[in-house]
Amino acid sequence: MSSMSKMLKDDSARRDAISLHDRSILVEAGAGSGKTAVMAGRIAAMLAEGVAPCSIAAVTFTELAASELLSRVREFVADLSSGHIAAELRVALPDGLSQAHRGNLAAASAAIDEITCSTIHGFCQRLIKPYPVEADIDPGAGVMDRNQADLAFIEIVEAWLRERLSGGQGGILAEMVLHSPGETVALIHKIAENLRRRRTLAAPPVSPLAGHLTAFRQATADFAAALDGTAAVEPETVMIVERLTEMATALANGPDPATPTGLVRLLTSRPHPDLCTKSGTFASYRKKGKWAAAAKQSGLSKADGDRLNDAAEAHYTACCDAWVALVQAAAGHALAALIEEARPIMERYRDHKRASAQLDFDDLIFAARDLLRDHDDVRSALGQRFAHVLVDEFQDTDPLQTEIFWRLCGEPVDDDNDWDRIPNPAGRALPGRRSQAGDLSLSRRRRRRLCPGARRLSRPGPRQPAVDLDQFPLLRLDSDLRQRALRGRALGRWTAGLHRPRSVS
Ligand SMILES: Nc1ncnc2c1ncn2[C@@H]1O[C@H](COP(=O)(O)OP(=O)(O)O)[C@@H](O)[C@H]1O
Ligand SMILES: [Mg+2]
Repeated sequence: MSSMSKMLKDDSARRDAISLHDRSILVEAGAGSGKTAVMAGRIAAMLAEGVAPCSIAAVTFTELAASELLSRVREFVADLSSGHIAAELRVALPDGLSQAHRGNLAAASAAIDEITCSTIHGFCQRLIKPYPVEADIDPGAGVMDRNQADLAFIEIVEAWLRERLSGGQGGILAEMVLHSPGETVALIHKIAENLRRRRTLAAPPVSPLAGHLTAFRQATADFAAALDGTAAVEPETVMIVERLTEMATALANGPDPATPTGLVRLLTSRPHPDLCTKSGTFASYRKKGKWAAAAKQSGLSKADGDRLNDAAEAHYTACCDAWVALVQAAAGHALAALIEEARPIMERYRDHKRASAQLDFDDLIFAARDLLRDHDDVRSALGQRFAHVLVDEFQDTDPLQTEIFWRLCGEPVDDDNDWDRIPNPAGRALPGRRSQAGDLSLSRRRRRRLCPGARRLSRPGPRQPAVDLDQFPLLRLDSDLRQRALRGRALGRWTAGLHRPRSVS
């Protein structure tokens, strides 16, 4: 008996994942725990039950994984048809196969290629291809691969930058390039790339600069006033207040921050060097001893010195915080302005693709999502066509991908077009089974559990799951089959080593 045919502690989860086809499932497991094998097994078991290969879609993370998955299905089907049950399937088929199962597999084996097995991009292409009108795509358009698209996009960004900067048009971009060309060009590339990936990208909300300017000026004035009223004089703190006041005056006399020049000036202002550490940030305020000495000199108690120190420290911190908030707000304004300036790049890129009759990967994803969202007849036709959808390495942090599967495999309630509510309401198809015969199987890596507090603290951002999977029937695989296989091999080598001397002697 090989080590692989021994019982695994998660065998019952494996059995269910392979053989229960009347519901959607979520398989969660570590790397090397057999997720892909379970998925291939589930497909083979469906075929044995007579599911038509063309109604199965399996989506993988890479092209390589897609071809690997399909060849595993092919192997399983070939094995099963010849009466052999692969180790990975034994748990789900303890009594072997019936005659009917074998007949189904024989029929399926000639049509394995009808299984749609590809990456999300390939899958989206399949979804939209029969519906060019509804998907609003050129039926003759080719698909650019990632490199082609990236190169074309970079060229467009650079051409736009050249034009934009040669016309003497001014604006925040020109102003920033004047100040630091390399960094600004890199930032524009980054912004353009983000606009490309997230078409609805908007700058985070910004707070008016005037309020921040006033707050900083007020904080320095308060500090100065507080110092004026003390009975003791601490010279280093006097110097700090002078420097802060100079900074406030420079701001007041500088160009209007509502203009590009003023904004860039603000953005590139630094605290006075006398107030900074080597890294250019505000030094912390450590004057307890100095205040004690100053208090003594003025005939005050040590407690008075401590109180003065605490009060000065609070003022200093308020000034530093107001400054940092001001510069951050300026950065927010600059970013928002740059995002708006860079938007025409997207138009150019769209024009370029249209003129050369090409789609990029993002077009495929967006077109498929829009098609499923905006055409209910198409959505239900595709839902019937792909009645069994399996997703390996499901990226639950990718909202578009999730939305595509939810719309395809779920049933919307009434005319509610809010896809992320599909799995929640009672009586809905997802996460159990949908009303017509159909199911969605997801496999994903196990993620480290966040404690509830950490979950609340972590801000919702693009890396947060796009949808709550908690209601999905969850099957957990926790055996480490790669380790097991390695250990088996190592043990074999070790025993071979033990035997060799004897066999030699
Ligand atoms: N039930 C099983 N019994 C024996 N070997 C298995 C089983 N499931 C998977 N394996 C083997 O374990 C290895 C890892 O499986 P794989 O499906 O690629 O894992 P994952 O997709 O989780 O990384 C493969 O060599 C596979 O053949
Ligand atoms: Mg895998």
